[in-house]
Amino acid sequence: YKKPATPVRLGHRNLSECVSENNMANDASPKRRDGIVIDDNWSGYSLDLFSYPSHYAGDLDCVIVPHGVIMDRTERLARDIMDDLGNKDIVVLCVLKGGYQFSADLVDKIKVLSCNSNRTIPMRVHFIRLKSYMNDKATEDLHIVGAEDLSFLTGKNVLIVEAIVGTGKTMKTLLKHVEAFKPNMIKVAGLLVKRVAQNSPWLPDYVGFQIPNRFVVGYALDYNEYFRDLNHICIISESGKLKYKV
Ligand code: HPA
Ligand code: MG
Repeated sequence: YKKPATPVRLGHRNLSECVSENNMANDASPKRRDGIVIDDNWSGYSLDLFSYPSHYAGDLDCVIVPHGVIMDRTERLARDIMDDLGNKDIVVLCVLKGGYQFSADLVDKIKVLSCNSNRTIPMRVHFIRLKSYMNDKATEDLHIVGAEDLSFLTGKNVLIVEAIVGTGKTMKTLLKHVEAFKPNMIKVAGLLVKRVAQNSPWLPDYVGFQIPNRFVVGYALDYNEYFRDLNHICIISESGKLKYKV
């Protein structure tokens, strides 16, 4: 006979403790600003552990962010964004093409939060297209397409939604363009930030994940237009690069 163990109080805290902890995680909190940090030495999840389109068998090395984790992180980003921007009309500026999936899911999560609160705010969604990548390299000429007149941004809270940020050069160019229309506030949400070698890295206001400086695909991120139809964020293999090279 073994005496039943005294019930231990599990790690729950009462609501006020949780709330005060969350309140401390404001903009000044390095953790919140950094997002989920994925280490350079981590080899990712084996593709055998997930389902993915069989036409990409052999084209990928590993999964680095599974789809479910993207969704969970996005839900939290939506809350952070509502806390900061939810006092005024929000205009979401989705940066195409790579940002379409993150943008759609983020807008969905914001909608749910907005419906379940008593301070619902109108949200508009606009699209601009930036293109600078050929194969896995950035080209010098950055094009902003479909953003000629952004005068509807004047006085609004603008949320720029981008799938991936490297040096931040693209974002800085876009920010300058948007600032000219005098919005009330501009914030940038980046699902992924690549750790590129750089002295003073530029970080978006809301970061999903910080990832190694490798070429990733999936969740709308492409390699020459392929792999957008992959749910997880994966590292492309060398043979995958060769197969879809232009
Ligand atoms: N994958 C896809 N598109 C990109 C990337 C990447 O790693 N970096 C910049 N654009
Ligand atoms: Mg691309």
